[in-house]
Amino acid sequence: MRDITIALAKGRLAKKAMEILAQAGICCEEMNEKNTRKLIFRNDELGIRFFLAKANDVPTYVEYGAADIGIVGKDTILEENRRLYEVIDMNIGRCRMCVAGPPDARSLLGSGKLIRVATKYPKIAKDYFYNQKHQTVEIIKLNGSIELAPLVGLSEVIVDIVETGSTLRENGLEVLEEIVPLSARMVVNQVSMKMEKERIGGLIAAIRAELEKQAKEEE
Ligand code: PRP
Repeated sequence: MRDITIALAKGRLAKKAMEILAQAGICCEEMNEKNTRKLIFRNDELGIRFFLAKANDVPTYVEYGAADIGIVGKDTILEENRRLYEVIDMNIGRCRMCVAGPPDARSLLGSGKLIRVATKYPKIAKDYFYNQKHQTVEIIKLNGSIELAPLVGLSEVIVDIVETGSTLRENGLEVLEEIVPLSARMVVNQVSMKMEKERIGGLIAAIRAELEKQAKEEE
């Protein structure tokens, strides 16, 4: 029997995602080993392999079938725009994709003037401004600390993730428009979904049941 391979986005989501998987009976002891440089972890009993990858690469691994399943943020799914099935909202990493900037950028946004938008998410920003708002903007791609851009005059506004809002607040910026709510999702390779219908279906059912149980407990 071939392994089912699960790719997890490195970083804050991975730990929480592993907790949910473990509670759903899909665990991997090997992954808890400290200071290991190993990249792939295996649960022989279940025939499941796990690996951690850079978030942006997770949809790529899944589209090409190098991973059957991925767990990654909706922001990355939208930005990468790969062919895959999105099957579960994991109810972790809840946040929002927003247009943000200094308070006085609010009037600029609606003024019809050409504004500059700094972002780590050029596709999401382009879709939003061009296709939804029908507004021409200049998009400037950055790789992190996006909030800096309007502070140092690189752009008028930013498109970025807002979770608690504290990064914006502490820098005198605010949410100007909300683009889309985000959270971590489970995605599945389109061929794997057909070829491994029973095993992947079983995993999906177990995770859904665990998430429903958690939601009831929270009520
Ligand atoms: C993200 C995001 C914001 C911040 C939002 O950045 O880009 O900067 O978190 O969180 P908050 O609303 O709770 O303050 P991240 O820490 O991932 O790093 P980055 O700035 O390098 O992208």
